[in-house]
Amino acid sequence: MILAIETSCDDTCAAVVENGEILSNVISSQAASHAAFGGVVPEIASRHHLELLNPIVDAALSEAGKSLGDLDAIAVTRGPGLIGALLVGVSSAKALASARRLPMVQVDHLHGHVAANFLEPDPLEPPFLCLIASGGHTLLAGVTAKDRFDVLGQTLDDAAGEALDKAARVLGLPYPGGPEIQRLSADGDPAAFEFPVAMTRGKGLDFSFSGLKTAMVYAARDLGDGLAERRADLAASFQAAVVGQLTAKLGRGLDADEWPAVALGGGVAANTLLRERVRDMCEQRAVKLKLVPPALCTDNAAMIGAAAEHLVPAPHPEYLEWDAWV
Ligand code: KG4
Ligand code: ZN
Repeated sequence: MILAIETSCDDTCAAVVENGEILSNVISSQAASHAAFGGVVPEIASRHHLELLNPIVDAALSEAGKSLGDLDAIAVTRGPGLIGALLVGVSSAKALASARRLPMVQVDHLHGHVAANFLEPDPLEPPFLCLIASGGHTLLAGVTAKDRFDVLGQTLDDAAGEALDKAARVLGLPYPGGPEIQRLSADGDPAAFEFPVAMTRGKGLDFSFSGLKTAMVYAARDLGDGLAERRADLAASFQAAVVGQLTAKLGRGLDADEWPAVALGGGVAANTLLRERVRDMCEQRAVKLKLVPPALCTDNAAMIGAAAEHLVPAPHPEYLEWDAWV
């Protein structure tokens, strides 16, 4: 039985996981505290984690009906992420684990997004190709075992979620922008504006979103006063371009190698259009598709527990040396 802690960005998360079963998965989103700034303010995130983590851990244990004495290990996200935010999680996990002389497991946040697919019900067994798209990362992971993944391609500049968040800001929508863009897109025409889909030629598996982001800034500027009435069309066209690139590179990954299954992870994987397009692609190619619920795509601690179950724990007091990875 593992208590997992995740504080790499702006969600304070704790979960109890046992053999792939989620016994509790508590998330306190700080989004409202960052909304006024149009994005995550690292110092505010760290301070909120400090205030929230103990009650969130208590809530995760009590929802699971467990106490510290029932645990076999404590897992924590060691990186990548915001250094101050990570340190709150790592220090708290160390304190909890060492008080009980429990072993500790360090988890790579991105491995957590992959491992959300190992959770019950219907856990996915490797090998599979996993597209991870979040606010900080965009990559294609070749997953051949539960304890690791290979990066087959990744963004050369911005992450997909970062581009969506920026586009939302240009359209006057609050943070986080991905769900807002999705909502506004429902009333828009995805073909109204032609946004560039980067690196469509060649066979490379890397991504790029900075050109798309700039194109949005220019499109909004060119509309001037006309922006207000074209917001839905802009949102829909932008969303289509982001999803177009993600699915194009995923398709290329499937062309490059034989993968029996596909999975998605990261906050952008909660996007309805992306989920539909990937479902169509997998049907056409007769490849199995695993889609975890949107709540397990965005940051959570159950996924960190899921990864930890397949990693080797460090005994007390070895982990007291641990720092965060940036
Ligand atoms: O994985 P995540 O919760 O945190 C990071 O590790 O970054 O991802 C957050 C990102 C944000 O950029 C947010 O706008 C985006 O995921 N996101 C979405 C949706 N829900 C969250 N993007 C598109 N459509 C959504 N429904
Ligand atoms: Zn994440």
